[in-house]
Amino acid sequence: MIDEVIKVFKQLDNKDIRILTGIEIGMKNSEWVPVEDVMKYTRMTYDHISFRLKKLAKLKLLSFTNIPYEGYQIYFEGYDALALHTFVQRKTISAVGNEIGVGKESVVLEAIKEPELGLGDPEGVVIKFHREGRTSFTQVKRNRGHIGDREHVSWIYAARLAAKREADVISKLYPEVSVPKLIDHNRHALVMDIAKGSLLYRTRLEDPQWFMDEIFQQLKMTYSKGIIHADMSEYNIFVHEEGVQIIDWPQYVEPSHPHADELLERDISNILAYFKRKYELEAELEGTVAYVKGQ
Ligand SMILES: Nc1ncnc2c1ncn2[C@@H]1O[C@H](COP(=O)(O)OP(=O)(O)OP(=O)(O)O)[C@@H](O)[C@H]1O
Ligand SMILES: [Mg+2]
Repeated sequence: MIDEVIKVFKQLDNKDIRILTGIEIGMKNSEWVPVEDVMKYTRMTYDHISFRLKKLAKLKLLSFTNIPYEGYQIYFEGYDALALHTFVQRKTISAVGNEIGVGKESVVLEAIKEPELGLGDPEGVVIKFHREGRTSFTQVKRNRGHIGDREHVSWIYAARLAAKREADVISKLYPEVSVPKLIDHNRHALVMDIAKGSLLYRTRLEDPQWFMDEIFQQLKMTYSKGIIHADMSEYNIFVHEEGVQIIDWPQYVEPSHPHADELLERDISNILAYFKRKYELEAELEGTVAYVKGQ
């Protein structure tokens, strides 16, 4: 689906972006943004926007209703296009590539970043588009009669909030904790370095003990900075020759969270269980928890 977004993105001009932005603004107030508001926010006449609205609907970036008035709302794909547009404008990225990961709550793409001041080679990076709140969005679509209900836009806020949380925590942890470096952040999207190596669950390690110790050392450093990952597993750890990198942070909690201890223990048990299952390594939960907590 994201391939579509890229193809589609290339067909958009500045006026199309202005219209999508206008609808984004209007969605703060209503589920279906009245066409008059789109005109107001874009400062364009009905004649100028109407054929573009049709084009954007055909490209599946927005949807529309005629009942009880002519109104528009953007889809996640329209929102993706706005974030991409911002990254291109800021010169954070110059090209977008393939989809490299789809999670339950995100879509991850490869992209190219031009070197700073034009020196050196273009670098590969990734863009992670958050997709939280999608379920409620579909539910909302099912009940599309309810206009003026504030719940309707929860997906925009849920995805935005998750991206902001993830961007903030990555910046806080980097570089002491081994996480991909954050390069840019806009709306529901993050641009970051490509994690080195391959995902733990897809890799056969020659020295599993060393990697397991390394992971707990990273969790210890993370904890010392006041963060608990809260979704640790072999699916969120990259391993490479010299170490590990931990990804996927939006659900992190702080040690003051009412379930902090439980979540930390669960993180640690997940790792212990994985190394036991795959490599028959034994380590004790209690001692490892104490180690991670620096006790
Ligand atoms: N920095 C990165 N470098 C390389 N690949 C990445 C990076 N970030 C994410 N990915 C890829 O995208 C996938 C989804 O990313 P991530 O785990 O952050 O999102 P998610 O939607 O929260 O996943 P989950 O299914 O665990 O909820 C990862 O499994 C990985 O394959
Ligand atoms: Mg993940």
